[in-house]
Amino acid sequence: MENNSYNYFMGSVIPLKKEIDNSYLSLKNLVGSKLDSVTQLIKYKLASEIDLIHKMTDYHLKSGGKRIRPLLTLASAKLCGYNEGSRDINLAACVELIHNATLLHDDVIDNSDLRRGIKTTNYVWGNQSSILVGDYLFSRCFEMMVEDGSQEILKLLSSTSSRIAQGEVLQLEYKGEVDLLEETYFNIINMKTAALFAAATRVGACLGNKSKKEKEALESYGKNIGLAFQIADDALDYFSSKNVFGKEIGKDFYEGKTTLPLIIIFQRGNEEERIFLKEIFKKKKRNEDDFSETLALINKYKAVDASFKRAEYFVNVSYDALGTFQHSKEKEILQNLTEFSLNRSF
Ligand code: IPE
Ligand code: IPE
Ligand code: MG
Ligand code: MG
Repeated sequence: MENNSYNYFMGSVIPLKKEIDNSYLSLKNLVGSKLDSVTQLIKYKLASEIDLIHKMTDYHLKSGGKRIRPLLTLASAKLCGYNEGSRDINLAACVELIHNATLLHDDVIDNSDLRRGIKTTNYVWGNQSSILVGDYLFSRCFEMMVEDGSQEILKLLSSTSSRIAQGEVLQLEYKGEVDLLEETYFNIINMKTAALFAAATRVGACLGNKSKKEKEALESYGKNIGLAFQIADDALDYFSSKNVFGKEIGKDFYEGKTTLPLIIIFQRGNEEERIFLKEIFKKKKRNEDDFSETLALINKYKAVDASFKRAEYFVNVSYDALGTFQHSKEKEILQNLTEFSLNRSF
């Protein structure tokens, strides 16, 4: 797999990105009409007589998002030969509901004002209602899982929710620690992000009644794509632009969240630079000068480059995990998507 992704740091982008973003569009074309049903179903299931819930869920859902997790569920189910009934639509909706519930909570925890290019629900309606509406999304999702009736899937998705929560709490525990071990970082992103990707794809294999091997292969595909996806998100936080990313740039840094680029400069920096980083992370708030100096270090030590190099491993593992499946259009599209998870522009 060719990967020129890291020629673009600090602005000089992108013909290649377009091609890579196309792999996401192919996935959308593959299961697009089912995805529309997922969106409709979510809307229907979230209906409530409580006006505030109606307003908030409507606002949040209209902001869209990439819908990558439900797309993965739909395509995985298709890969595994599921072609009767609408369980794939129901379960893809569950996966997207879990994701959106965690985002509503996450934006409160991270104090985020902007998501998907618009103000967050916590910015508009406050933290309390955002938390409660997040809980509402979880609860509706659990109702739908019970309706589906599969114990196996219920167990999978409920344990995934608890893993996400544990990942977010673990991350919180390490807030402000700039000398975070890379190992700890991977542990965190495995729980908070990769677990849901892994479940999203494994569900597809469950729907197709596939063997243990195939379930595990799809789970591994999802987990590794998820790891690469979060590494990309954490790198984009340092160099993307607000318009493309739809979120504030530098948010992790200002919030004192240590992610891979920062871990790498701390590892590679000299004594003086490490002291500088420790000092600024001790502070309650970091300012723009702190951010510029940190960006200079990221540049000096090619930390974005190095982050992408680490993530390439997961992209490759993810790609090869599907090797066990026979050739098909679905397989090809899913394999092409692995690159997108890392080298996406949004
Ligand atoms: C955001 O996920 C949270 C991360 C795991 C990085 P997405 O980037 O999939 O968010 P939306 O749904 O497309 O907005
Ligand atoms: C992902 O972490 C959040 C969850 C998986 C719950 P981030 O905090 O990095 O996600 P963004 O950047 O806010 O989308
Ligand atoms: Mg966040
Ligand atoms: Mg982020």
